[in-house]
Amino acid sequence: MLELRDLRKSYQGRAVLHGLTHRFGAGQFVAIMGESGVGKSTLLNIIAGLDSPDSGAVIIDGQSMAGLDDDAATALRRTRMGFVFQAFHVLPHLTLTQNVALPLLLNGGGAEAAAQASAMLAAVGLQGRGDDFPRQLSGGEMQRVAIARALVHRPALVLADEPTGNLDPETADAILALLRRQIKATGATAIMVTHSHAAAAQADQILVLSTLGLDLLS
Ligand SMILES: Nc1ncnc2c1ncn2[C@@H]1O[C@H](COP(=O)(O)OP(=O)(O)OP(=O)(O)O)[C@@H](O)[C@H]1O
Ligand SMILES: [Mg+2]
Repeated sequence: MLELRDLRKSYQGRAVLHGLTHRFGAGQFVAIMGESGVGKSTLLNIIAGLDSPDSGAVIIDGQSMAGLDDDAATALRRTRMGFVFQAFHVLPHLTLTQNVALPLLLNGGGAEAAAQASAMLAAVGLQGRGDDFPRQLSGGEMQRVAIARALVHRPALVLADEPTGNLDPETADAILALLRRQIKATGATAIMVTHSHAAAAQADQILVLSTLGLDLLS
């Protein structure tokens, strides 16, 4: 479903990704761990097409991302990917339903978008809160909204960078169980970057990124 071929990336002459090759199986939930600064977020951004590698290829369903023009890359992101990035904040001036419906509307969804968003909010335990605004939520509830929005359009690939980074351990556990359930329910392939061993334990497989590449946690 997703293949990385000899990815290389440097910033100001300093190599971050040193020829990374890996194949992610369809429907797998993979956690990526590794030291701060080793390039985990860089890798996710490159997979998302938000940053480009200096060389090498990201291949999604047999199609190289580099072969796509900007419009095609945007369309691929909107239709096939879901993001739980801390930088992708829930929008403060939209209600929860409007926030979650956003990917559907961007993909041309119409009348059913609000109903699907409400159903997704219910799936993350926020039933009846659809008309609330983000400021009325706790951090954990906000993260649930972010997960609902990341999954509402049933993306084939879910990318999450520290999805529970600023939550207490109990809330983090509940959110991750929820993320896992939703990923498995939709059959998505998912990659989650985390520093937390408890979080990583929810994944099917734990990989460690180092200058040597991506290797199974031993
Ligand atoms: N846009 C950029 N310009 C210059 N250097 C960058 C840029 N983005 C990342 N870097 C550098 O690349 C390296 C890897 O950064 P990255 O954010 O991928 O690390 P990380 O593994 O996600 O770390 P953390 O666990 O702290 O989030 C760091 O040394 C960082 O300073
Ligand atoms: Mg990071």
